[in-house]
Amino acid sequence: MKRLKLRRIREILESGEEEVFSGYSDPVELIFQVAQREVLAREETQRQRRFHRARFPDIKTLDDFDFSVQKSVEESTLQELAQLDFIDRAENVVFLGPPGVGKTHLAIALGVAAADRGHDVLFCRAEELVDDLYASLADGTFKRVLGRYGKHDLLIIDELGFLDLDRTASNHFFQVINQAYEQQSVILTSNRPFQEWAALFDDAVVVSAILDRLLHHAHLFNLKGQSYRLKDKFDPPWAQGGEHPNPG
Ligand SMILES: Nc1ncnc2c1ncn2[C@@H]1O[C@H](COP(=O)(O)OP(=O)(O)OP(=O)(O)O)[C@@H](O)[C@H]1O
Ligand SMILES: [Mg+2]
Repeated sequence: MKRLKLRRIREILESGEEEVFSGYSDPVELIFQVAQREVLAREETQRQRRFHRARFPDIKTLDDFDFSVQKSVEESTLQELAQLDFIDRAENVVFLGPPGVGKTHLAIALGVAAADRGHDVLFCRAEELVDDLYASLADGTFKRVLGRYGKHDLLIIDELGFLDLDRTASNHFFQVINQAYEQQSVILTSNRPFQEWAALFDDAVVVSAILDRLLHHAHLFNLKGQSYRLKDKFDPPWAQGGEHPNPG
């Protein structure tokens, strides 16, 4: 077993759990059962590796999302997306809206569903992505680092908009989106509506090029409402339909 690298079977035999096989008198069935344990164990190891590589900040699922408090998204639409056909079609998903309405939660939930089903996913905050690309200029590894972001089936870029990007960063961001276009799915979350993106990127030409590619094949969600973080804590004026200082 060691030479064949059949770790799970070895574990079973070494730990005295081999009784699990005692009910199978048909040798073919027994071989099948033994092999199946190994396969299942390997799949589980690979799944754990995928989750580790995805770098989710937290594990969130659609099941723990309360759609009755977030009425601006349809549960059925999200469940449909969680079937993951959008990844095979290299389509994008964009969640916009004010703080605490569930953008990151839903982005992670789709990512978790994808990693569960064998897709290679990477979660990063927009700031990390931009910093990473910036840093790669210094040691001449820009192309390699950019290429690394393009390798995943699904790239989740969270929190675009907390930080205004200068020209270099805007250009880097464009390159990430351009590289992904029709090749790789991107899930993007932002607390800034598209109208404010021109200010965010400091370059109107780059913004329209980014939006053009990002939205060509995209599922767009404008989340609204009160922050879930402040739920039951206080009622800000915008929760009653007043003007939000930063409408999503
Ligand atoms: N409808 C919901 N049901 C259950 N939990 C929710 C819901 N909406 C948000 N949450 C939870 O509230 C917290 C904040 O949500 P989330 O991080 O998704 O907000 P966000 O829209 O990304 O906000 P920000 O713009 O500040 O990043 C998280 O712990 C999330 O799991
Ligand atoms: Mg968030």
